[in-house]
Order: sequence, then C-alpha cells, then structure tokens
Amino acid sequence: MNDVIPQLSAYDDAALDAAFRSLIEQVQAGASSLLTAEAQEAFRLEWLGRKQGRLKLVSDAWLKTAPVEAKKALGKRFNDLKAAIESVMESGAGAGATSASGPALDVTLPGIARRIGVEHPLTRTMREVVQVFQALGYSIALGPEVESDFYNFEALNFPPNHPARDTQDTLVIADQQGKPGRDRLLMRTHTSPVQIRTMLAQDPPLRIVVPGKVHRNDESDATHSPIFHQVEGLCVDTNITFSDLKGTLDHAMKTLFGSGVKTRFFPSFFPFTEPSADVQISCIFCGGSGCRKCKHSGWIELLGCGMVDPAVFAAVNQRRAEMGMDAAYDPKHISGFAFGMGVDRIAMMLSGATDIGLFYSGDLRFLENFA
Ligand code: PHE
Repeated sequence: MNDVIPQLSAYDDAALDAAFRSLIEQVQAGASSLLTAEAQEAFRLEWLGRKQGRLKLVSDAWLKTAPVEAKKALGKRFNDLKAAIESVMESGAGAGATSASGPALDVTLPGIARRIGVEHPLTRTMREVVQVFQALGYSIALGPEVESDFYNFEALNFPPNHPARDTQDTLVIADQQGKPGRDRLLMRTHTSPVQIRTMLAQDPPLRIVVPGKVHRNDESDATHSPIFHQVEGLCVDTNITFSDLKGTLDHAMKTLFGSGVKTRFFPSFFPFTEPSADVQISCIFCGGSGCRKCKHSGWIELLGCGMVDPAVFAAVNQRRAEMGMDAAYDPKHISGFAFGMGVDRIAMMLSGATDIGLFYSGDLRFLENFA
C-alpha cells in the first residue's frame, strides 16, 4: 500500500474496471504534454520507473496482495494499463504529437530550405535606370509590344520608305495587308511610340520614363538579340532647351555609373528629334585612358537623344484634332527633349557578361551570379 495508489476495496469486475479506468484516464491526460524529450522522460519515470513508477506501485498495492482467484482478472487489466502507457510513449516519441493517436511530427528535424529568387539582372538594371528619373519627378509610362505603324513610325516622322519599316528590320504581324498602312500591326522596334501615346492622352507639361521590351528582326550574336530592352524618356514643357537635356542626362549617368564619369554629345540623326545626339560616357573601366572594353577610345556610347522634332508635335496635334482634342502641343509655346537607351548593353557592361544571350538563356549558373 502507498499514498499514490489507493487500496482496492473489492475484486469484482466493476470495481476493477473503475480502478483501472481512472488510471488509464490519467495516462491519457499526461499524453498531451509530451512535446519535448524532457517531458517524455519525466512521463516514463512517473509511470515506468523501476522503484517509484506508478506501474510498479500498482503491482505492489494491488497484484501482490490480491486473493488468488482475483489475480487473473487483475493481471489482464494490469497488462492493458501497461500497453496504454507504452502506446502513449510511442506516439510521444514522434515529438509534437498532441494526442496518443495524433500524427507524429519531429520539430527538431531541419526544415525544407526554399531558395529565394532574385530580380533578373535586366529587370534590375531597368529598375535602377527608371529610379534615377523617378527621383527627378518623371512618371512611369508603358505601352504595348504589339504596336501599329502609326505609333511606331508614322507619328514619329519616319518617311514612308524608311529602311526601318522594311521587314528586313522589323518583325511584322501576318495578314495585315487589308488594313490602311498606319493601322498595320508590328512588334515595336523601340519604346518611342509611348511618347506619342502619352501626348495623345495627356496635356503638357509632361515628364515620363518608359521601360520596356522591344523587337527587331536581328540575327542573334554576342551583342544582338531579336528581343532586347530600352528605357525611353520624354520631357515637354515651356522653355525646355538642349541644356536641360544635357544636364539631365549628365546627372543620370553620374548617378548610375559614379560621379567621376564624364559625358559628351555627338551630332546624330533620328527622324523624331532635331537636333539629335549620341551620348558617350567616359569608360567606367579605365577612367578614359583607353582599354579593351572601350576599344582604346576612352569612351563608351550609351544612348540616343535630341530635342523633340516639331514634325512630331504636328503629328500629335493632328491626331488630337481627329480625336476631338485641342492642339495642346504647339511648338510656338512648348518644347521638349527625348532620349532612349539600351538596357541590355548597360547590364552587360555592369555585369561583365560578354554574350547578351546569357540574359535570355535562363541558365541558373549565370543567373546565380546576381543572387
Ligand atoms: N528610339 C531610338 C532607338 O531606338 C532611341 C531614341 C529615343 C533616340 C529617343 C532619340 C530620342 O534607337
């Protein structure tokens, strides 16, 4: 007899059942707290400990002193109790089990590592360029990649037989011959059509930056891909001058490549800007002294730009009139500049990649370098 286990008062089935049921309920109540190895060991000691374990005490108090004719009935219930304790301990050993029959979950096992993705180097470069202009108050504008001849060429002052309009250079959508020329669809060859779309939707003043994908009928090689990316810019307001263009792009290049870079502007030609210029920056690898990256010139050509050609404003006003809008882009009152740069070239320069195809290959061995 002991304090923990009460004396049995009778040995009939009902009395034995009641006594053992109460013990089994205590075993099961203890099962819910077996979340740690320590708790499981404490449970084991409490019930199965050799000297003071409750099973041992039950054996001492009930089995040993029972009359012979009750021993069989007692022994069977004693074994059931022991089985219940062992079953609780087994599911508890799966740590985290909340009931004797619940699923086993070992919270100490290492978790499943999920690799976190990173921005693609082209997306990242595009975002970095866009942010420079957003900081200057430019808004982001976007346009479709499937574009009409009107937005991609006509309104941008490309003459009807300009070579860029040829299928040699431009990827055109099939079966468009039945449509008027300006409505024929093609894959946009530059982001400049978004200039037109924006001026048809908004009045000046205007400052937009346009990131996007463009398409040309080019053979792939180390520096050409039929799909590539541009960031376009357009600023239209009163009294916008070429000095504003120079200052804006000089600031942007210094922000992107470091305050030590210099810019220089060369006369160039685009149908939609006049005057037009190509912008070069001092080589970011050699500082301008000449190296393989800049072909020993000390300069790297990075973008095209110019003052918006009055012919573009005229096309915009004419289209606005057709749409019942006022002629808000009157070159007597407003002026503007535009620029466009190739994102892939900048990303190649910054990453040291020598093949543009790597950006489009989806090869993790390359992309992991940017993680
Ligand atoms: N759209 C021109 C190109 O793709 C770049 C450009 C944009 C030039 C804006 C001048 C002004 O080459």
